[in-house]
Amino acid sequence: MSDAPVFDIDPADFWADPYPALARMRAVGSLVYVPQFDRTMIVKRDEIVNAEPKIEVFSSEQPEGLMNKLLGQNVMRRDGEAHKVERKALFPCVSPKTARDHWTAIFRTEAEAILAELVPKGAADLFIEYGTRLSAQCLIKITGLETATWQEMDVWSQAMIDGIANYTGDAEVEARCNAATVAVDAAIDAMLPKAGQKSLDMINVMLAAGLSEESLRANIKLTITGGQNEPRDVISGAIWALLTHPDQLALVQAGEVSWMQVFEEFVRWLSPIGMSPRIIAQEHRIGDVTLEAGDNVFFMLGSANRDEAYFDNAGSFDITRDAGKHIAFGAGPHFCAGAWISKAMVADVALPMLFDAMPDLRLTDDVRVGGWAFRGVLNLPCAW
Ligand code: HEM
Repeated sequence: MSDAPVFDIDPADFWADPYPALARMRAVGSLVYVPQFDRTMIVKRDEIVNAEPKIEVFSSEQPEGLMNKLLGQNVMRRDGEAHKVERKALFPCVSPKTARDHWTAIFRTEAEAILAELVPKGAADLFIEYGTRLSAQCLIKITGLETATWQEMDVWSQAMIDGIANYTGDAEVEARCNAATVAVDAAIDAMLPKAGQKSLDMINVMLAAGLSEESLRANIKLTITGGQNEPRDVISGAIWALLTHPDQLALVQAGEVSWMQVFEEFVRWLSPIGMSPRIIAQEHRIGDVTLEAGDNVFFMLGSANRDEAYFDNAGSFDITRDAGKHIAFGAGPHFCAGAWISKAMVADVALPMLFDAMPDLRLTDDVRVGGWAFRGVLNLPCAW
């Protein structure tokens, strides 16, 4: 256990809104030990940015971790050369060029089809019917799991997320996670015979790079857990943020601020992934604090993105600020592989197309927000 200052939290309050506690942690120092999670949290931007590239200390390999056991060892749980090989294999699918020249048009077709159904309805929960659905339909294309439905992608994603966070060993949660991984394997099986096609989906690029089937399956499962909820939460959350800040929406609609600035500020302000875990591989000191081998550490990305040293008035959503220093996608070798795809999906497609199709879009009820490791709106009741 590290000797960082002890900071007690109430897990339920932390889930409801972690930001007040995170601000108090930053006032204490760069690292705090939270007994309720038995984890040392690194809460300031500088220390995370310094620490993340030091993979000989801050290791991603967690052979006994739930992610490895339930989903298989994926790119995010590898270090060094083994990690690089898998990143390289994924690159043709997720590169900035592929996002721009290939995926953007495909995402537009998906959004058009959804909006053609939605617009005549006049009202809906856009968290489900737009954020969740569009994210899942795009993810079907990205992964290449063409036999899956958007509802299945969403159920699988949630079941696997719950499974890998099932620290109390709840048997039902584990069973749902196992059912999801069996279903994902079946969906992969259905696509493997098509291997060798010249296609940029994830299954094909991994096969073309010669990755083992075991790695391929683990990386597809990671992509469904990591690539479904986050674009969903940015699409839905940014719509909510703009509708509750109409002056800022007006700036975007007048062309004075870009949709990309909306994206960057939103992921800074309400980071969809608030935490990235590491294990300490060898004793290490940060300031006065000693981290011991075997300690579990959380890089608190959501906290770094509200770090007062980098962002004035950090708790305000302000699309006119320079949000460029946020680390919502990480800050080291594990920097999100899907970052460019997400920007294309949300800033080039989902937000502009929705606000174009629904010029009088408005909220019709309260919006709930929750989570800290994964944070986002939980509903988005709208009319237009
Ligand atoms: C706005 C949406 C998203 C956010 C905020 C996000 C955030 C993150 C974060 C914080 C990490 C860990 C970074 C670290 O520890 O340094 C990560 C890793 C990863 N993400 Fe994303 N992500 C998003 C969307 C996606 C999408 C759509 C995909 C796939 C299509 C994806 C694929 C991955 C992969 C494969 C990794 C592991 C990279 C590695 O270990 O080298 N992400 N993401």
